[in-house]
Amino acid sequence: MSLLEVDNLSVDFRDDAGWTRAVSDVSFSLEENASLGIVGESGSGKSVCALSLLRLHHKRTSRMPGSRVRFDGRDVLAMPERELRQLRGADIAMIFQDPMTSLNPVLTIADQIGETLRIHQGLDKAAARRRAAQLLDMVRIPDAARRLDEYPHRLSGGMRQRVMIAMAIACRPRLLIADEPTTALDVTIQAQIMQLLRELQAEIGMSVILISHDLGLVAEFVERVIVMYAGHIVEEAAAADLFERPLHPYTEGLLHAIPNLDDDAPRLAAIPGNIPAGGAWPRGCRFGPRCALARPECLAAPVPLETLRDGRLLRCPPRRAASEARA
Ligand SMILES: Nc1ncnc2c1ncn2[C@@H]1O[C@H](COP(=O)(O)OP(=O)(O)OP(=O)(O)O)[C@@H](O)[C@H]1O
Ligand SMILES: [Mg+2]
Repeated sequence: MSLLEVDNLSVDFRDDAGWTRAVSDVSFSLEENASLGIVGESGSGKSVCALSLLRLHHKRTSRMPGSRVRFDGRDVLAMPERELRQLRGADIAMIFQDPMTSLNPVLTIADQIGETLRIHQGLDKAAARRRAAQLLDMVRIPDAARRLDEYPHRLSGGMRQRVMIAMAIACRPRLLIADEPTTALDVTIQAQIMQLLRELQAEIGMSVILISHDLGLVAEFVERVIVMYAGHIVEEAAAADLFERPLHPYTEGLLHAIPNLDDDAPRLAAIPGNIPAGGAWPRGCRFGPRCALARPECLAAPVPLETLRDGRLLRCPPRRAASEARA
């Protein structure tokens, strides 16, 4: 049994016009102490997937038909609220996409971290403060004892992100979900934060799901990578394989979108066209309208996600045929 098993996750949202599908048929699993990346352009459904794992969507305006999420064998989607609250703080921790809205501007660092500790571990105020100082040390914030009484706006972006990470690991979660943890940071700080996450993963022995639009960053950090496009998975492979030999034309496009610092060529070779909105996905391959290789049959009918001989998952029959012919 894997630590996390996601089967056919589909997420619909409701507005005045009715239900619209944002994510469809996403399946994956994650072992204890393992790492997984989820990459894709803005709007591909990465955050919706992540929030679903903790059932964080609004109950009245969302539904997850036919979906199954199991954590440590427990059915997350059927769990009573009380068990769910325990799961959220103590078993699965999440670093949300926007650190500024996740930190409370009127609470000191000690109080923000302490709140989690008091709720989930029943520590009293003094003990929570001592533990908060230890946690700031763990995320390598210098002069931790003095930082405890500061407010979030006094900290740099990198320091704030370290506080977010301290809060996330406060209860030694078994799974950490980090949604774009370094997007707002400059490259040097970004590297420091990723290094910190790597060290903490080893120290605590937790699994990590890293979400980013930056395939290069993800491939360096995780073992396996899921590539999402228009609400579903188009490719899944070991990070090194994906990086060295992307098979899906969309993955290829994402890789070429990595800024190349060694030459003066255009820094971003974007894929022409836009990701279709939820509910307006093409009938055939969802990437078809933007794909230079698309054939008539690609556009005619839904394209299945197939398992290749090497264990890779791919939603592109022409590329699968070419790859299997080569092998
Ligand atoms: N609460 C919601 N209600 C309705 N639609 C939503 C909601 N949350 C997300 N969506 C839609 O679901 C799709 C996927 O959004 P999601 O936030 O998962 O993208 P993302 O891959 O995380 O993008 P980004 O890189 O910008 O964070 C988008 O079309 C978005 O508009
Ligand atoms: Mg997102």
